[in-house]
Amino acid sequence: MSLQILSETEEKILQDLNNKQIESVSSLEGSTLVIAGAGSGKTAVLVRRVAYLIAKGELPGNILCLTFTNKAAKEMNERVRKLLENVNINLPNLPPWQNDYLRIPLLCTFHSLGVRILREFGEEIDLKKEFTILDTEEQKKIIKQIQKDLNIDQKNLQANLVSYFISKCKQELLTPENSHKLTQDYLPVFHQIYKKYQEVLSKNQAVDFDDLILSPYLILKNSALTRQILQNRWTHIMIDEFQDTNPAQFELVKLLIPKEIL
Ligand SMILES: Nc1ncnc2c1ncn2[C@@H]1O[C@H](COP(=O)(O)OP(=O)(O)OP(=O)(O)O)[C@@H](O)[C@H]1O
Ligand SMILES: [Mg+2]
Repeated sequence: MSLQILSETEEKILQDLNNKQIESVSSLEGSTLVIAGAGSGKTAVLVRRVAYLIAKGELPGNILCLTFTNKAAKEMNERVRKLLENVNINLPNLPPWQNDYLRIPLLCTFHSLGVRILREFGEEIDLKKEFTILDTEEQKKIIKQIQKDLNIDQKNLQANLVSYFISKCKQELLTPENSHKLTQDYLPVFHQIYKKYQEVLSKNQAVDFDDLILSPYLILKNSALTRQILQNRWTHIMIDEFQDTNPAQFELVKLLIPKEIL
């Protein structure tokens, strides 16, 4: 790292990190990819980076940090708060579903981000704010009912397999209109059930787990204005365990970043 004079606050936040970690925390221009072995301190870098940005005066609400589990998100939140308390910056305690995006950084899972985007902009795809999120049992129930309606023998086509197919489509960002583009071949009946399934969900103002990524993706893809709002809101985006993002998650994040920076 090039020699630079650090303020006492910066020093406190970077304390105990090695040079490579300090370089990753303090490289704030453009994009940074951190690749290092298990347990080597990658998440530590991310947490410090969030605190470092805020300590340097960045508006907390400009920071979005994504993880894969709620537990990881909770831990990261706590670690950021502690680091900042050490330098006398106290983030306000806001309830998890608050809509104040300015005073705290958003450290959450991809799915939690999806829920937030849908609650705020779901109306663009005719989804009301009070939509419900289906669990796998409810999902299977709907699939079984559709099979019944279409006179498809459930012994020959298990609901589990259909739900796997639907999930696969959604993770490849394929709606029923273009599910035939799926990389793997499936019988026409799968596509038929998927179409009906989406109709049922939409009629009931419900989404499944995979919709929490696909639907925000579709909203952002189709609305330049929404993209602009969110791109202005989160000017620093970080992802822990980046290698685990699926194509849908990756494409969603790409829409949150202005084209010139990508
Ligand atoms: N420079 C450092 N010196 C001493 N301890 C460190 C340093 N960096 C991180 N640690 C500690 O090492 C442990 C692992 O760190 P961390 O969880 O950040 O690693 P990771 O690379 O994200 O791990 P994983 O691969 O499991 O996600 C933590 O207890 C952390 O506090
Ligand atoms: Mg980690």
